Amino acid sequence: MKWLTILGATGSIGASVADVVLRHKDRFAVHALVGHRNVQRMLELARSLRPVRVVMTDPEAVPALRGHIPAGVQVDAGMEAAIAAASDAKVDIVIAAMVGAAGLPAALAAVEAGKRVGLANKECLVTAGRIFMQTAAAHGAEVVPVDSEHAAVHQCLAGHARESVSRIILTASGGPFRNRDPKTLASVTPEEAVAHPNWDMGAKISVDSATMMNKALELIEARWLFAVPPEKLSALIHPQSIIHGMVEYVDGSIMAQLAEPDMRGPVAYALQMEPRLVSGIPFLDLAARGRFDFQRIDEERFPAMRLVRRVLGGQDSMAIAFNAANEVANRAFLARRIAFTAIVRIVEEVVEATEDVSVAGLDEVWSRDRECRRLAEERIQAHGG
Ligand SMILES: NC(=O)c1ccc[n+]([C@@H]2O[C@H](COP(=O)([O-])OP(=O)(O)OC[C@H]3O[C@@H](n4cnc5c(N)ncnc54)[C@H](OP(=O)(O)O)[C@@H]3O)[C@@H](O)[C@H]2O)c1
Repeated sequence: MKWLTILGATGSIGASVADVVLRHKDRFAVHALVGHRNVQRMLELARSLRPVRVVMTDPEAVPALRGHIPAGVQVDAGMEAAIAAASDAKVDIVIAAMVGAAGLPAALAAVEAGKRVGLANKECLVTAGRIFMQTAAAHGAEVVPVDSEHAAVHQCLAGHARESVSRIILTASGGPFRNRDPKTLASVTPEEAVAHPNWDMGAKISVDSATMMNKALELIEARWLFAVPPEKLSALIHPQSIIHGMVEYVDGSIMAQLAEPDMRGPVAYALQMEPRLVSGIPFLDLAARGRFDFQRIDEERFPAMRLVRRVLGGQDSMAIAFNAANEVANRAFLARRIAFTAIVRIVEEVVEATEDVSVAGLDEVWSRDRECRRLAEERIQAHGG
């Protein structure tokens, strides 16, 4: 029996994890479920998954939980309790699926405790990738990507020598605005932006997919996860979202991983690579699918992809600025404070205003992150938000 802590249990990835775990009750048991403030969802999960403890990182959510939680389940509040749940000696696997850099302390605690970490929370690798992967190596923690593209690449790399790799290729669906007239993008609503054609995801990542910030963040994530230089990283539009990622080798072959777009696949892989677990996703009917299409990414339509090259060519402070400004601008768009097209513009302005330097430790990560968030808020106001 493997014991799990699920960080971000109340979110969309959390739902995929719950689904896979419930199919394999003989293999996995839940030590802790960690949510932020969605009490209703936490109650449902606590009833079905029967954890030892639940944690709400927002203490104000706890009173509504008490009295309804199944008897015997311990209830805790705050990020410190989430960190304790991620590093508890009984826990074998931690799924890191909080949204944003807020997920970094608990995910980092899991790698410091030498856990196997199924990492969905890409923002923590963008913000502190070097520190995160060095900490994992120092403590013997295994980091397995839950992001579908990176899970695909992880599978395509298995059994191959690293020097044989010529290129890592992440696929992108192109999001809801792949074919929309760019002149109309300024008036896009949050409802239109979160309506992803292929994936059902949380609001933040759905908007990131629409701006292509998601793919940009994923290139930075791949750099750290797979320890490859930026020039070996690329992305390609594949509207069907069936091929999730590819690795091109020096002999001209490309290995690709294919599956229906359903996060239970990468979740099952992160929980147990071999033998593979039944994940619940439907088998792929290639004849019914008929064709796969590919398209280069238009950087005029998706300026985030131009900007990320600059960030990848720069030092740590650039990626911190890129992520922090995006989190703030993404939220401002969802709150209808700024136009869709202002998101990447604000990220670019914050990156431009940031000194390009390497960052030594976590304290400096957080102080730079805070400063970039402040700057982004200033830019939002300048854009009328
Ligand atoms: N969804 C996908 O298909 C997908 C695919 C690849 C990667 N990812 C990555 O996985 C992560 C989660 O995505 P998601 O789509 O599952 O997001 P989501 O549905 O919005 O869920 C986010 C989770 O994080 C919690 N949370 C929110 N703010 C928090 C805070 N300040 N501190 C601690 N916890 C907080 C939420 O708690 P409450 O709901 O209880 O407030 C919820 O459990 C993101 O990094 C995303 O980029 C997602």
